[in-house]
Amino acid sequence: MAFCDTYGRKIEYVRLSITDKCNMRCTYCMPERHNSFISTSKYLSFAEIVRVIAAFADLGVSRVRLTGGEPLVRKGVDQLAHSLTDIPGIDDLSMSTNAVLLEDRAEAIFKAGVKRLNVSLDTLNPDRYRALTRGGDLNVILRGLRKARDLGFSPIKINMLVMKDVNDDEVLDLTAYCLEMGFALRFIETMPIGSSGQDACKSFISLSHVRETLSQQFDLTPSVMSGGGPAQYFRIDDTNMHVGFITPLSQHFCETCNRVRLSADGTLHLCLGNSVNFELRDHLRSGISDSDLKALLIEAMALKPKQHDFQHDTARIQRNMSVTGG
Ligand code: GTP
Ligand code: 5AD
Ligand code: SF4
Repeated sequence: MAFCDTYGRKIEYVRLSITDKCNMRCTYCMPERHNSFISTSKYLSFAEIVRVIAAFADLGVSRVRLTGGEPLVRKGVDQLAHSLTDIPGIDDLSMSTNAVLLEDRAEAIFKAGVKRLNVSLDTLNPDRYRALTRGGDLNVILRGLRKARDLGFSPIKINMLVMKDVNDDEVLDLTAYCLEMGFALRFIETMPIGSSGQDACKSFISLSHVRETLSQQFDLTPSVMSGGGPAQYFRIDDTNMHVGFITPLSQHFCETCNRVRLSADGTLHLCLGNSVNFELRDHLRSGISDSDLKALLIEAMALKPKQHDFQHDTARIQRNMSVTGG
């Protein structure tokens, strides 16, 4: 029997946030002085995480994405990755990272079985990068990306949040960089998640504008890429490069949603754009059996909302993006 929610959507992808901490403070993701992080005493242990993912896998989940905050700041992530790839049924293990630690850690996570990387990079201008990330060093990121590519991560997808009058003049520059490096480039619309996301939405721009900018330069053919996310892909004709569009606001994709999120403290977030959640940690620590754990996961899926609540002012999401890592 397929593992479905009440709307018949098959759940096959878990986004696993292993910490809400980050070594940067991107303006659209985390408030500058944010310091109310999840206490590490509440973190699920690696053994608990592996147990939950194994239960998910038994039910039909096949993809896991490691997210944060910044996943590479949690010690031992490579050991965790190794254990996750060993779970029968998990055949896609990926990571979303800011790449600050990539140059150092890429080899360990690659050997541990992470084969696909998505990396946030919104600008190629060092000053702008420092401002957007509140202190990040662009050169470190570019070195990390080169290392990851040379090690063989494939595909590497660059995530560019496009913001009006902030970085929307760099769409073609990032395209040229990705073409040269062999990366895919995904454009993302800002989402009003947490106070930082809400502020960033003052610079909201629909990706239809980006599509137009690209179409003036290139012929684009609809295409597909490995991955299980909501991007709509096109191949740039006469190249091997893909561009993707992630449009949660201008054209949402909730009817094909296939994922849930597990945060570092063991909370299942049933939808990114909605506050409905289900606490797993206490259950895990109460000596629950594997079959009862699976029954709980099935129960939790019944809470998954039909779609996000981004349009309703009263229902804005208070939690920061850093709690679920997108
Ligand atoms: P793959 O397709 O498997 O490579 O992953 P992905 O694109 O889903 O993952 P990534 O972490 O790179 O996310 C890219 C952007 O898509 C981020 O801004 C996420 O917040 C957004 N995103 C991913 N999944 C969802 C979703 O279910 N709903 C919404 N609204 N946004 C999502
Ligand atoms: N809106 C849309 N995407 C966001 N991300 C972080 N904050 C936001 C936001 N407010 C993206 C980052 C990262 C991905 C995991 O989530 O760009 O690449
Ligand atoms: Fe799924 Fe919610 Fe994202 Fe829509 S907003 S695609 S329902 S997680």
